[in-house]
Amino acid sequence: MKVCVIGSGGREHALAWRLSISPSVTKVYAVPGSAAMSGCAELVGIDWKQTEHLIQFLKDNQVDLVVIGPEAPLVAGLSDSLCSAGIPVFGPSKAAAQLEGSKVFAKELMKRYDIPTAAYGVFSDVESAKSFIDDTGAPIVVKADGLAAGKGVVVAMTVDEAYAAVEDMLSGNRFGEAGHTVVIEEFMVGEEASLLAFVDGETVVPMIASQDHKRIFDGDKGPNTGGMGTYAPAPVLTDELRDEAMRTILNPVVKALADEGMPYVGCLYAGLMITDEGPKVVEFNARFGDPETQVVLPLLDSDLGEIMMSCAKGTLKAEEVRWKQSSAACVILASKGYPETSSKGDVIKGDIEPYDTTIVFHSGTKLVDHQYVTDGGRVLGVVGLGKDLQTALDRAYGRIEHISFDGMQYRKDIGAKAFK
Ligand code: AMP
Ligand code: GLY
Repeated sequence: MKVCVIGSGGREHALAWRLSISPSVTKVYAVPGSAAMSGCAELVGIDWKQTEHLIQFLKDNQVDLVVIGPEAPLVAGLSDSLCSAGIPVFGPSKAAAQLEGSKVFAKELMKRYDIPTAAYGVFSDVESAKSFIDDTGAPIVVKADGLAAGKGVVVAMTVDEAYAAVEDMLSGNRFGEAGHTVVIEEFMVGEEASLLAFVDGETVVPMIASQDHKRIFDGDKGPNTGGMGTYAPAPVLTDELRDEAMRTILNPVVKALADEGMPYVGCLYAGLMITDEGPKVVEFNARFGDPETQVVLPLLDSDLGEIMMSCAKGTLKAEEVRWKQSSAACVILASKGYPETSSKGDVIKGDIEPYDTTIVFHSGTKLVDHQYVTDGGRVLGVVGLGKDLQTALDRAYGRIEHISFDGMQYRKDIGAKAFK
């Protein structure tokens, strides 16, 4: 079958790479993709926002399945437009993608169906938000309702910080429309894990659990980022806890959406906090995680194209999804100034070809005069694979010794929590 991946980041590079080695897949297109993805996909210079143009391309080239990578096209309803044109899509409808697009929608759904998550309030005026903060006390978490590129969450350790966050979002217009309503949440204590699942509208099949590292600095210090590294499997989510999360969180939310007339098709990402009372939802995403995808997909031992097509057709079976008995680790190399700013145009030196035991996925690079240069905050995701996590980490960090660019920064402690 012919598959088209929408997007151009590290997650999409991993998706295109994994699809390109799936026996059922004869051709991968990437819209628009990145220069680095040309090794595994044919790049198509169309903007997904030009939906008519995109549909014409997909029809002219008899594309069998579209895989939507990022949240923006999902929340904008690209999946609906393609489905209406008769093109099978892996990625939820606009209605179902509200699970990520609106934190208020997600929290209210969880409340209606008793899905474990932090207690919360919803506010659009500063005074009532502050009075809720006074009543709850710190630490407390303030979240912009809408999409804010992973930056709309403030974990406030003091009441003053929470006040400032609320003022920033509600009166300061910090995230524009996305921040005109805020969710204020109870602070949950525990270790985090990312549990992604394949979903066909009804059947939910979990992937291998992974763990992201959201803060910029070692020891989980400094501001939040899009994710500085991941590893899988993550031992914090034992088989028992995964089964519990499936029973109390993923299965019920997929059933709730179906019951409310917005069946979920695609990858459902549950960001979990493993608390003393069991797994609770930190957030849902309506897509694969970045950089979770870079460690989860190399461990898949079955045909990704077939699995995704089964999701699109509503015929997914748990037996279709098998995993390798090995580990993967991904270390993100970020550019100077990230996450506040990012540096563009720094020449990347070293060998970034893929090998059997290491793969370099490109998150933000550009080819200029036959040389890759930085082109965003997160630049490369260096993945090591191995029989166990230590081997995978050694391979990833070993590979990084041969890569450099001006201002390159990365965490040295990816995976450390797994050995505690
Ligand atoms: P989010 O974008 O919702 O995943 O939030 C970003 C990060 O903020 C999460 O990965 C957590 O580390 C932290 N966080 C979000 N909500 C909570 C919460 N209710 N309690 C504790 N930490 C949280
Ligand atoms: N790695 C976090 C995310 O994809 O949202």
